[in-house]
Amino acid sequence: MKYSLEENIAKILIPKEKLQERISELAKQINEDYQGKSIVMVGILRGAVLFYGDLAKEIKVPLSMDFMAVSSYGSGTRSSGVVRIIHDLEENIEGKDVLIVEDIIDSGLTLHYLVEILKSRKPNSIKLCCLLDKPSQRVKPINPDYVGFEIPNEFVVGYGLDYAEMYRNLPYIGILKPEAYATK
Ligand code: IMP
Ligand code: MG
Repeated sequence: MKYSLEENIAKILIPKEKLQERISELAKQINEDYQGKSIVMVGILRGAVLFYGDLAKEIKVPLSMDFMAVSSYGSGTRSSGVVRIIHDLEENIEGKDVLIVEDIIDSGLTLHYLVEILKSRKPNSIKLCCLLDKPSQRVKPINPDYVGFEIPNEFVVGYGLDYAEMYRNLPYIGILKPEAYATK
């Protein structure tokens, strides 16, 4: 890999300003939908962290923050189909209004599994907010309530999303150059 992260980016798919603009719109919608309620905002580690932080800053209804870490991918770009809970919620969500915040829905395997687990804990409601959606890749039927952007079936990095744990800190969503996959 080249020394600078940016040198490995072939194309910026969604620039920083567009991300921020769309996140403000999502927050506005969420503020309207949850009027008079409070939210348990469940971030899925680690990909959702940047999105989660920017979104939370614009939410005006009472909100508590909790996180889950699951693993469905190895270090490559393909789903393994195996989902494992690595870190569970700290809060009891029974009777609460849960908003799951995720970076991207691809096959839907990760969220399908997670939603089933969280439903069994009897929350009052569960909604899904994801920054990116690749609807063409669905294996499990998952329809997010809030979507930032629908994207084509390309592997993307940045703004929380990684390839082999790198690139999460880029402020935009980009596509890697082919040679960036060759070595770590
Ligand atoms: P799913 O279970 O196939 O829906 O995969 C969801 C997870 O796969 C996300 O939380 C991401 O961590 C990862 N993922 C899917 N597509 C991409 C991508 O284009 N770039 C980086 N990570 C991805
Ligand atoms: Mg992830």
